[in-house]
Amino acid sequence: MQLSIIGTGHVGLVTGACFAEYGNQVVCVDNDVRKIETLRGRKMPIYEPGLEELVLKHVDAGKLRFSTEIRDAVRDAEVIFICVGTPQLPSGAPDLSYIEAVSREIARHLEEYRIIVEKSTVPVQTGQRVKMTISKYVKKDVPFDVASNPEFLREGSAISDTLHPERVVIGVESKRAEDLLRRIYEPFNSTFVVTDIHSAELIKHASNAFLALKISFINSVANVCEATGADVEEVARGMGLDTRIGKGFLRAGIGYGGYCFPKDVEALIRIAHDLRYDFGILREVQNVNVDQRIRFVNRIEKELWVLKDKTIGLLGLSFKPNTDDIRESPAIEVGRELLRRGAKVKAYDPQAIPHVQRDAKISEQLKGVVFCKDAYEAAADADCLALVTEWDEFRKLDFERIKSTMSHPTILDGRNFFDPAALKRLGFTYHSVGRA
Ligand code: UDX
Repeated sequence: MQLSIIGTGHVGLVTGACFAEYGNQVVCVDNDVRKIETLRGRKMPIYEPGLEELVLKHVDAGKLRFSTEIRDAVRDAEVIFICVGTPQLPSGAPDLSYIEAVSREIARHLEEYRIIVEKSTVPVQTGQRVKMTISKYVKKDVPFDVASNPEFLREGSAISDTLHPERVVIGVESKRAEDLLRRIYEPFNSTFVVTDIHSAELIKHASNAFLALKISFINSVANVCEATGADVEEVARGMGLDTRIGKGFLRAGIGYGGYCFPKDVEALIRIAHDLRYDFGILREVQNVNVDQRIRFVNRIEKELWVLKDKTIGLLGLSFKPNTDDIRESPAIEVGRELLRRGAKVKAYDPQAIPHVQRDAKISEQLKGVVFCKDAYEAAADADCLALVTEWDEFRKLDFERIKSTMSHPTILDGRNFFDPAALKRLGFTYHSVGRA
């Protein structure tokens, strides 16, 4: 089929490449001319494992192309996926101006039947707004459908999440839209959840908020573990084997970050508030999440007694491994708090350092941090090594070498990543989150 994607961010670009992989002709549109030029120049604007290979494969096969014109998206494809950003406004509410602008622009070019599918994460009832906007701006009486088809991909495993989704949620108002979307997703060999548009929209926000809740829940359990000598890993394993609870998202640590969870939890609180419902449980999810980073820094401080002028080696800056994304990264929050308390910070991350250096706001927040070429440089002369993002390469570190160059062999593990017994055997003072 001919498909178009408007917005070539993480979701749009990955979705476009994966649709091409399943045999469709895809045009990806973005009004960011530089981004489109980058893509046309065979370079990826984001780091995502496997993305470059997939994009180039389908560009070379003539199945994937890039444009700056929404007109192309509307003219060339029966199904148009809106994947533009919905960033957080200072008020906490999602900024829907890009969705509104794209809806108007689609309406301007509409000449024959099209389905306009929201893939961006949007507040419940946005589909209704998109429909009203298109109806208002369309030139003549052209039939169209609006649908919701939320995306659940995770950064770092976005390609396989998209190619092999656990479910495909389709919110529709007509049989015609349902049939077309089912046809597109047939090769994905997944379970369809077909609902009305409002429910599909809410499935996305509710899913992300629930996952964030699981993380804050297990972090709270970890804090009880620390106070009692219980082990959060064992508790999570024992809980997770109950299929009603499930194993996923029960990894304790310094909390969740990234572009989605913080924004989506806040958005759902706002949406509920606007509907006169107080979603109090989600406010507590946020409180626990913020507190978890502070507790981690407190733990480092407790270990070193005084943080002022102590050197901390920070392992990780991205919000999770396998991505260079630093948005709302707990690792950066920990770095900031350490600086605020007077510590000297040396940081290493396999991918994120150029992003930190390019981002004026975050560079300012991390002013004074020395960026290192590897974990060994970050550990050299440090009073404490703090693991804040669990990149796989940290598992293979030569800890004998690290120990020999550190000022004091102390490791604080914010992601319960290292083996406590092994590090203690090597003579490290080692602490993690919620493990005895
Ligand atoms: C998330 C959702 O998983 C995805 O379905 C949605 O489409 C976008 O938002 P993403 O933000 O890429 O994906 O990352 P995810 O792997 O979900 O992790 C989010 C954060 O939670 C990370 O900071 C991670 O470190 C943290 N996390 C995750 C935990 O602290 N503990 C866990 O058990 C799982």
